Amino acid sequence: MYFPLTLVFAALPILVAAVSLAGSPVSRGISVPISKRGGLRGVRSLSVSTSQTRLPYYHTCRKIGYRMVVYEQNTGRQHPLAGGLKPMGRRDSASETLIDDSELWFGSISIGTHVDSFTVNLDTASSDLFVPSFKCGSSCWGHKTYDPSASAHSNDLGIPFTLTLGDSDIVTGEQYSDSIQVAGLTASAQTLGLATSYSEGFQIGNFSADGLMGMGFPSISVFNAVPPLQTLISENMLTSPVFGIKLATLGSDLFLGGVNNSLFTGDFSWVSLSNAGFWQAPFDAVIVNGTRIVGKTETIFDTGTMKILGDSAGIAKFFASIHGANSAPEYGDGTYTIPCDFDTPISVWVGGTEVKISAASFNLGPLQGSEDGTTCEAGAAADSTLTGEFWILGQIFLQNVYSAWDVGNLRIGFATLA
Ligand SMILES: *[C@@H]1O[C@H](CO)[C@@H](O)[C@H](O)[C@H]1NC(C)=O
Ligand SMILES: *[C@@H]1O[C@H](CO)[C@@H](O)[C@H](O)[C@H]1NC(C)=O
Ligand SMILES: *[C@@H]1O[C@H](CO)[C@@H](O)[C@H](O)[C@H]1NC(C)=O
Repeated sequence: MYFPLTLVFAALPILVAAVSLAGSPVSRGISVPISKRGGLRGVRSLSVSTSQTRLPYYHTCRKIGYRMVVYEQNTGRQHPLAGGLKPMGRRDSASETLIDDSELWFGSISIGTHVDSFTVNLDTASSDLFVPSFKCGSSCWGHKTYDPSASAHSNDLGIPFTLTLGDSDIVTGEQYSDSIQVAGLTASAQTLGLATSYSEGFQIGNFSADGLMGMGFPSISVFNAVPPLQTLISENMLTSPVFGIKLATLGSDLFLGGVNNSLFTGDFSWVSLSNAGFWQAPFDAVIVNGTRIVGKTETIFDTGTMKILGDSAGIAKFFASIHGANSAPEYGDGTYTIPCDFDTPISVWVGGTEVKISAASFNLGPLQGSEDGTTCEAGAAADSTLTGEFWILGQIFLQNVYSAWDVGNLRIGFATLA
């Protein structure tokens, strides 16, 4: 019922030949294999005491809240969803690890003239690229580090940075400009952060990729810079200013310059972005076994978050429609359990189309204390800092659909997975 715990190691980027369709322009779409490293369920099932309980979804709202502040600094305007988060006043040490391993979907990029390759977590809800600097000491141990002096293109911008993904999830370092390559495509002048210090949440046991690549818009960039995929677009490296994503346990794919036609069927349903900062657009409704839980609501589409996250009242109503579901705060605030034989139909309507959330993807597997395998963790959770103005649709949603992220037309599209 749940994804097997698999350890998948990062693959080097594979260059895929350009495809030419008769009568149409040459498509320069390129696939970047992306991998997932398992671990959450193994870790979670070992975590009973509160101090070890991880609340990965809680970081999500911290990350988003910090990016809203950055948005205001960059644009001089309050983020339109700022009212959707309660003030971030809470201090809870149990909630301050960064991102659980199983939330890391990562790809490989190269930096500099020597084309050093790094694995980076792919995060659509932030917009900065950082990797460890060779000057980073023990806090970067286990990660690959980068020495910019080896690159003919590197340029020290002389600007220090502090990047916050949660209260104690902090990366500091210096901003550089350098050439980077994604799937063999070069962005010649990319602003990136070379980290000289990683807080615990980024240390190797908690964060298996070397760095992180934000895939949102410049307005939420801490560096106030154009993020890598948008640099590829502005430097005209892509035929089409779109990237396509398939997230799956196996066979995940980030497609640059369009969508990979072999990974979906039928047409895309498109939704215009409400604002170009996060990938933010409304869904039409969330339906559980025929009950409409919420109607049209803004949402942030986030590859860096695992679950479907909503406000406490909305999520309580959601689980009230699922037979046998229970609130289970002992596994982390906002956590819910479902029976392991769960098969309640759940769907999210978006762009006028139904995206069915499969029972297999929604069921995150047995929780400790349920070794008989009857109580499993649900793929949706409440975040008490959300007011209900917006939800966050993470990997549990994105694994059930092929998505097209259209930077040129400021819209996001969804099609049925092939
Ligand atoms: C599309 O995805 C399939 C399956 O992952 C892959 O084999 C193929 O090479 C991709 N097509 C292109 C043009 O990259
Ligand atoms: C992971 O994060 C936790 C909490 O921040 C910390 O106690 C632990 O030492 C970290 N583990 C590693 C290997 O960095
Ligand atoms: C769906 O709801 C119907 C009644 O409205 C109920 O009989 C059925 O058991 C529910 N199905 C699930 C899987 O919860």
